[in-house]
Amino acid sequence: MIKISPSVLAADLSDLAAEVADIKRCGADMVHLDVMDGNFVTNISFGLPVIQSLRKKSDMIFDVHLMIDKPERYAARFIDAGADILTFHIEACDNPVELLDEIRSQGVMAGISVKPATPIEEVYTLLDHCDMVLVMTVEPGYGGQKLIPETIEKVRKLKAELKKTGHFIEIQVDGGINDTNAGELISAGASILVAGSSVFVASDRAAAINALRCNA
Ligand code: DX5
Ligand code: ZN
Repeated sequence: MIKISPSVLAADLSDLAAEVADIKRCGADMVHLDVMDGNFVTNISFGLPVIQSLRKKSDMIFDVHLMIDKPERYAARFIDAGADILTFHIEACDNPVELLDEIRSQGVMAGISVKPATPIEEVYTLLDHCDMVLVMTVEPGYGGQKLIPETIEKVRKLKAELKKTGHFIEIQVDGGINDTNAGELISAGASILVAGSSVFVASDRAAAINALRCNA
């Protein structure tokens, strides 16, 4: 079953709790929360206090994507704030194995992410330590970009590696995903699609979520 994780970057952030309730009603499986530090990526989004407050108003699965330098400094606090899935970038962390293990030891799903230019093979030695690999399909930092087609091959390679090594790990894709490219991503092996603009900007969000899921 393909899962859809709408990114609130494209939501009305002045009314975040209502926006999250709305995508739940429209059939989203989880909500994607993009944390940016103005350092690992040039943009700044939101952080701990927003997630903490939202946690009090929503029982959805919080899929937290950390685009921050040295994520090991903050992981425990994002878990306390309410993350159910916590993903950080391999490019931002010196000891990913240790951090993945720490996240898992707190009962939270641990995800490792790669930017478009990072070879997918770099995560192969981490597969025993994570629950999800997030293959970025755009350069991280901004919503509303166009998917980089070459990234789809990375999903295909990773899926083949998971099969070969017998790992049952989710493959998440993020950036520029819409009902035109969702099918190809799903056939390549993606199991969780993140979508900001194509869900939140749609006039019928339930139809948009359904279109993404059923496009295989
Ligand atoms: C980009 C973020 C994405 C982004 C997706 O750095 O990680 O989650 O919000 O937005 P769309 O679907 O609009 O590309
Ligand atoms: Zn994201």
